[in-house]
Amino acid sequence: ERKEKTTYFRQAITQTPDFPKPGIVFEDIFPIFTSPPHHEALIRAYELQIKELGVGTPDVIVGLDARGFLIGPTLALRAGCKFVPVRKAGKLPGKLETVTYDKEYGADSFAIQTASIKPSDKVLVVDDLIATGGSAKAAGELVKKCGGQLLGYIFIIELTGLKGRDKLDAPVYTLIESQ
Ligand code: ADE
Repeated sequence: ERKEKTTYFRQAITQTPDFPKPGIVFEDIFPIFTSPPHHEALIRAYELQIKELGVGTPDVIVGLDARGFLIGPTLALRAGCKFVPVRKAGKLPGKLETVTYDKEYGADSFAIQTASIKPSDKVLVVDDLIATGGSAKAAGELVKKCGGQLLGYIFIIELTGLKGRDKLDAPVYTLIESQ
């Protein structure tokens, strides 16, 4: 069933060559959300993937700013667990853990609210796409700073040529592979 759902929803993803700059083929997932059947298939495929991991129900699903916020809360609701955001620095109040990571151009900072993850919580990190893996690695570090146990990462699309998964020291699961 996961493969059928994936075959279905992936038809809604569009590829735009040379956006936002020459040489990049941009994978746009937003059209999935314009169609309830494709949206449902996406969420169901993710849900089945999480069940297939065999790690039980996570205590927390962490979603990455910004497209991880489109999927994470729905998955958390279906799993009956907490949703916690990792946000760009400067957006969250209260006591935070922060980490700086490298992007294609310069550095950026991510933050998480320290109390949102309890020590020993089992945490799954979700985002739409893994490219170089820089932001996912940073999110994993934040989870560990909070004392959480990182179960792994789950993405819709993996750009395999960029080898982002090699940066991550927890299991990586992806629904679709692209070049
Ligand atoms: N983020 C990094 N690379 C991307 C791509 N090719 N498409 C969409 N989002 C991306």
